[in-house]
Amino acid sequence: MNTLVIFGATSAIAQAYVNRVANRYDKTILVARNAEALEQIATHTRVLGATTVEVVVADLSNSENHPSLLEKTFSSTVDCALIAYGELTDQQRCAQDSGYALQQMQLNGSSTISLSAGVARKMAEQKSGTLAVISSVAGDRGRRSNYHYGAAKGAVSIFLSGLRSDMSTQGVQVLTIKPGFVDTPMTREFKKGLLWASADKVAEDIDNAVGKGKSVLYTPWFWRYIMLVIKLIPEFIFKRLPL
Ligand SMILES: NC(=O)c1ccc[n+]([C@@H]2O[C@H](COP(=O)([O-])OP(=O)(O)OC[C@H]3O[C@@H](n4cnc5c(N)ncnc54)[C@H](OP(=O)(O)O)[C@@H]3O)[C@@H](O)[C@H]2O)c1
Repeated sequence: MNTLVIFGATSAIAQAYVNRVANRYDKTILVARNAEALEQIATHTRVLGATTVEVVVADLSNSENHPSLLEKTFSSTVDCALIAYGELTDQQRCAQDSGYALQQMQLNGSSTISLSAGVARKMAEQKSGTLAVISSVAGDRGRRSNYHYGAAKGAVSIFLSGLRSDMSTQGVQVLTIKPGFVDTPMTREFKKGLLWASADKVAEDIDNAVGKGKSVLYTPWFWRYIMLVIKLIPEFIFKRLPL
């Protein structure tokens, strides 16, 4: 049986991805913490032609939930798993509230790493599968405006780089997804401009990258070059930029 698992299925990017690909799988398992929203998404996914759609309700930030979650989702071979949950960290609040800063690091960083490691272990036992994880361009370099979020995403990207190498002999593909600005509920407060992409565009890019067995995806493509320039700016200049 051909199975797709989505961790963070209520995310706008995840929903756009499921809308594109679910009818190619025999079974789709949607995992998220909001039971009501999850049921609505499952109903929509069935309408789109997905054969079997199952839901699992879980707070993904709590790593203690991960072992039982993995038992439930890997009851049969999983061909593709997408990890798509997260939150845009309030940088100002982090400066005042270290508890919040740590909770955000757990959500966007440690828990994602823990879940990625667990999924990869299960796929290594199968000797097959694709693990796709949404990190961010924010993890490529610490910027004044969002380095708490960036540090968590940077940790995820570095972990996935090592995991990919580790899994390369086990038949498991690991894809790091680095979106730029995407118009989703996470960014609803932001003024949108030329650099912004839709969740559908990002989902299309993820679909192509999974199909081609890519390692790292910048989406849309031009972010690879924007981040190349950002990374090349010498630190003594970079620290003065109001980015
Ligand atoms: N939008 C962007 O510009 C952008 C750019 C780069 C990377 N990303 C990354 O893309 C991914 C998807 O985000 P999005 O843009 O699609 O935003 P979104 O629609 O706001 O989705 C974020 C999802 O994360 C879920 N979530 C948060 N905490 C959770 C928890 N403890 N357990 C389970 N689910 C939890 C939320 O669930 P609820 O519905 O229950 O709140 C929500 O569905 C995130 O990892 C984000 O960091 C986004």
